[in-house]
Amino acid sequence: MTGSLDAARLAAMRSEYENAGLDEGTAGDDPMDLLRRWLDDVVDAQVPEPNAMALATATLDGLPSVRTVLMKGLDDRGITFFTHYSSRKGVELAANPRAAATLLWHPVQRQVRLEGRVERLPEEESDAYFASRPRGAQLGAVASHQSRPVADRAALEEQVREATERAGDAEVRRPSTWGGYLLVPTTIEFWHGRRNRVHDRLLFRHEDGWHRTRLQP
Ligand SMILES: Cc1cc2nc3c(=O)[nH]c(=O)nc-3n(C[C@H](O)[C@H](O)[C@H](O)COP(=O)(O)O)c2cc1C
Repeated sequence: MTGSLDAARLAAMRSEYENAGLDEGTAGDDPMDLLRRWLDDVVDAQVPEPNAMALATATLDGLPSVRTVLMKGLDDRGITFFTHYSSRKGVELAANPRAAATLLWHPVQRQVRLEGRVERLPEEESDAYFASRPRGAQLGAVASHQSRPVADRAALEEQVREATERAGDAEVRRPSTWGGYLLVPTTIEFWHGRRNRVHDRLLFRHEDGWHRTRLQP
């Protein structure tokens, strides 16, 4: 089949990972600091949506699910993201407050993986972030019952219209079912693509402070 993405074409797709790599000296001892530096690099490199990350959660009996969310904060506590608490991920996190996240930046051949426990952000932080969002996005959050079925696009738009009408000229308040989470990482792994697939991998594990180990590619 001409032009189809058959197995041979997929197998032939590879870019050579030729760059300086990641060594223990440049990585340092603090993975949150390294993550901050890598984010600065991808912002400088104008990588699109540099803060988009795949976020995996799981039900209590271990059924995993994954979706993209935007990392909205990074500090010494961990990383933050915002969503609907009543969504599928919110329900899973309520039962099983653990998650894994991956940030992938193709143009610079880097990947970061985080795993850890998840807690809700304090209400004031969610309020402050919600207040900073454009009004349209605030109304969208009020109108949507994320992850629930809706009859069709028209029904969804009607929900938005109703929410807009209810709000009138007033300030849009954060719904109690929408807010932020903090992922407190217990492991963070940095991957940097290298020539011949002999990549660099540095794993940081938090016990009594951060411990760094190099992993084979
Ligand atoms: C680039 C991108 C960024 C996204 N950012 C968010 C986000 O920050 N928060 C969010 O709730 N959903 C975000 N979404 C939508 C989610 O991927 C997902 O559809 C939604 O959160 C429902 O997931 P759930 O049903 O597993 O809870 C984003 C999607 C994409 C493609």
